[in-house]
Amino acid sequence: MSAAASEPGRVTVRDFQTRKARGERIVVVTAYDALFGRLVDESGVDSVLVGDSLGNLLAGFETTLPVTLDQMIYHARSTRAGVKRALLTVDMPFLTYQVSPQRALMNCGRVMQESGADAVKLEGAGENILAAVRAVTGAGIPVMGHLGFTPQSVHALGGSRVQARDADGAKRIVAAAKDLEAAGAFSIVLELVPAEVAARVTEAVSVPTIGIGAGASCDGQVLVLHDLLGLNEGFSPKFLKRYASMATEVRDAVSRFGSEVRARSYPDDDHSF
Ligand code: KIV
Repeated sequence: MSAAASEPGRVTVRDFQTRKARGERIVVVTAYDALFGRLVDESGVDSVLVGDSLGNLLAGFETTLPVTLDQMIYHARSTRAGVKRALLTVDMPFLTYQVSPQRALMNCGRVMQESGADAVKLEGAGENILAAVRAVTGAGIPVMGHLGFTPQSVHALGGSRVQARDADGAKRIVAAAKDLEAAGAFSIVLELVPAEVAARVTEAVSVPTIGIGAGASCDGQVLVLHDLLGLNEGFSPKFLKRYASMATEVRDAVSRFGSEVRARSYPDDDHSF
C-alpha cells in the first residue's frame, strides 16, 4: 500500500503550509483509479484528489449524492496504488460525516485504514461539520475543507451557481473559512466564488485556499482531470480551461481501429505471431 508519509519526496500537509508561507502555488488534480493516479502523480502535482465527482464522471449520476462510502474506498484504494509522491486526499461522500462527529470519525477512519489515503475532504462549515472536523483532526486525520458551491448541497443551493456574491455572503464565507481553520482544517477548497471574495478568504486564513472557479488569488488551484483533459465535453463552465482534446482523440482512435478491422488491415504481419 502507501509509502510512509515521512519518506523523502512525499508531499505532506506540512508542505501545504510551507507553500503558502513561501507564496508557492499548490496544484491539485483529481484521479479515480491507479492508471490516472500514476500519470497525474508523475506530472508533479502536490495532491491527487479522489473526488466524489466520480459519481458524475464514472457512474453517470446527475449529482454526487448517490456516491457511497464503499465506492469512495474502492476508488481511493485503486488510486493509492498509482500515487507514490503526491498527497492523496479523498472526498467523504454525502451523509458519512454530517450526522454526528462519532460517525464522521469512524467513516474517515475507515477511508484512511482501508484505502491508505493521506487526508480527507469534507464540505461545508455548519456547526455539525465543524464538530466533525474537530473530531476527525483530533484523531490525527488531516481534513481539507470545502466552501462556496458545495456539490453535496446542490439542491439546497438551487443548482450549481456562484456563491457569496453579495457583501453578506462574502462576510459569511470569510467567517466560515476562519471557523474551519480553527477546527483544524489544513486547507480549504473554494468553489465558484467571486475572485475578489476568494482573495479576501485567502488573506483571512493562514491555511492554503485551493480554488476552482475562484480566481487567481487562491493559494492553489484544483481541476477535475476529465475536464482539463477535454474528456467531459458537455461541461463548459467559464472557469474551465481544457489542456487537451481527449474526447476527440478517443473517438478518432477507436474509429480508426474499427475501420482497419473492417478493412482487414489490422492485425497485419507486424502485429501477429
Ligand atoms: O469532487 C471533486 O472532484 C471536487 C473538486 C471539484 C474540488 O470536490
